[in-house]
Amino acid sequence: MNGLDDLKAKYLGGIAAAKDEVALEELRLAAVGKKGEVALMMRGLGKMTPEERQVAGPAFNALKNEINSALTAKKAGLADAALNERLQSEWIDVSLAGRPRREGTIHPVSQVTEEVIAIFADLGFAVAEGPQIESDHYNFDALNIAPEHPARQEHDTFYMHRDAGDNRPPHVLRTHTSPVQIRYMEKHGVPCRIICPGRVYRADYDQTHTPMFHQYEGLCIDKNVSMANLKWVLEEFCRAFFGIDDIELRFRASHFPFTEPSAEVDIRCSWDNGQLKLGEGDDWMEILGSGMVHPKVLAAAGVDPEEYQGFAFGMGIDRIAMLKYGIPDLRAFFDSDLRWLKHYGFAALDVPTMHGGISR
Ligand code: PHE
Repeated sequence: MNGLDDLKAKYLGGIAAAKDEVALEELRLAAVGKKGEVALMMRGLGKMTPEERQVAGPAFNALKNEINSALTAKKAGLADAALNERLQSEWIDVSLAGRPRREGTIHPVSQVTEEVIAIFADLGFAVAEGPQIESDHYNFDALNIAPEHPARQEHDTFYMHRDAGDNRPPHVLRTHTSPVQIRYMEKHGVPCRIICPGRVYRADYDQTHTPMFHQYEGLCIDKNVSMANLKWVLEEFCRAFFGIDDIELRFRASHFPFTEPSAEVDIRCSWDNGQLKLGEGDDWMEILGSGMVHPKVLAAAGVDPEEYQGFAFGMGIDRIAMLKYGIPDLRAFFDSDLRWLKHYGFAALDVPTMHGGISR
């Protein structure tokens, strides 16, 4: 029975040393396959005497079983090793910072709104919001715009539907963010310092006008707030927002029913070779309307104009986004064109802060 011991040593040794499943399969075929060595030996049983067969038969079977279980055990071991190797080579560090995927991006309007909020938060202004469907009272009357006032036409207002026979003045899509001034002072009183970003609507459409656009209102009311404070706040804002130290603003006398005196504010710029540069040159670009809040507006919001005064301003968010990031056509802002968004949009992790920077 020496042959058996040799076979056993040969195959068990081979199995233990096998490097992969292919080698293991070759060993299996050579040992216990149909034409394998063990099978061939078993064929020899027929030529044996019954006595010999009684001894040899169980010995062959035992060898076959032993080889088979060694194969199974080794196979499982190899699979474990292969898995371990994959786990070693394919690991990922889940604590790594995400890579920005520029599929969808943050819209310039959202980004610039966040920039504005960050700058004004630093100046002590809170954020307030109001409804986009507004009553005629908040959008006009409380802001000292009487029904027959020409400003109602100038605003190209969208009016909401009223049923026939319902003679109340219709609601409107707010034409500016100024109604939030009234709503905020009514609810929270004064003194106050707020900005109110949001959507506004006017029936107008060309390269620099869309029927829906974005504004933010600023409002600062206290006992001794003056036009000088307005000037400082706006200059400080523009310096931070555009990232230009020698920004120059021009306050031009103007008229709004809800401020007295009123001023429109232009920013110094140049248009060399069709390229806009801020803070230099001989051109001026209008960026906002402002003034000292009209006593009637304070009274309409329940604030005593004998005791309190302050300034307000309204700035176009889309307009300053176009200026800052060199975006030529306002209409493209609202086309939802992914190619445009990839070009002008911002990565989700580009969160503007005063310490981290508020510009790209
Ligand atoms: N509401 C004005 C507009 O939409 C802007 C403005 C706001 C002007 C506050 C003065 C004070 O044009």
